[in-house]
Amino acid sequence: MARMPVIAGNWKMHKTVEEARALAQAVRDGAAGVSHCRVVMAPPFTALFPVAEILRNTPVILAAQNVHWEPEGAFTGEISLPMLEEIGCGMAIVGHSERRQYFGETDATVNRRVRAILQSSLQPVICIGETLEEREAERHYDIITQQLAGGLDGLTRQSLLRIILAYEPVWAIGTGRTATPETAQEMHAFIRNRLSGMFGEGAQEVRILYGGSVKPENIAALMRQPDVDGALVGGACLEADSFLSIIHYNA
Ligand code: PGA
Repeated sequence: MARMPVIAGNWKMHKTVEEARALAQAVRDGAAGVSHCRVVMAPPFTALFPVAEILRNTPVILAAQNVHWEPEGAFTGEISLPMLEEIGCGMAIVGHSERRQYFGETDATVNRRVRAILQSSLQPVICIGETLEEREAERHYDIITQQLAGGLDGLTRQSLLRIILAYEPVWAIGTGRTATPETAQEMHAFIRNRLSGMFGEGAQEVRILYGGSVKPENIAALMRQPDVDGALVGGACLEADSFLSIIHYNA
């Protein structure tokens, strides 16, 4: 079954509103007419609304970089799903390794966010990945198995079809050290296999993105792998030209 690829840009903590507008306009215009993949942009919270206005009535999807599981309440510093729905966000990234590493995100909190997102109109982009230490100790498959079991706990087969996974080996994020296409494929196939074990056939329809130092130079080889269904791009999405070259990986 064909899985429509997704090329998503995670802006992390970059871009003022003014800078965000310029980048969003350039990507929107450069991606006009793209039909081989879905383009996603995840600006920081202050830029979501202005970027939403720029993307309105275009196929480019707006994503948040995180979201809380409660619809409202005394949760200083958090943003809720109704707030994201109101401005037209279509996706929310959950469990990014930087959230896990610096802000105490765990598989349990990832799971709460995922379940809440599945009750909303948004789709979750759930990040998983092992650290260098874990890979060197040959624990990467165990770690991924654990992150999948915890993060996807309680999901139904039906809801599985709405999730997007992003495999992001922590040792490849922002380091310039990309996983080879073969290493990525090996883990993506493992993830799909785990999903089949957990949920059955629907696993064939789940998009699994690769993330970690994706660049214009390595995207095509990654996309040729049968289980790599797109990319979550950090550093290389901050300039329109390089993000657009990644989007046009098939050119
Ligand atoms: P990077 O980040 O492309 O800068 O390595 C990827 C990510 O963290 O999503």
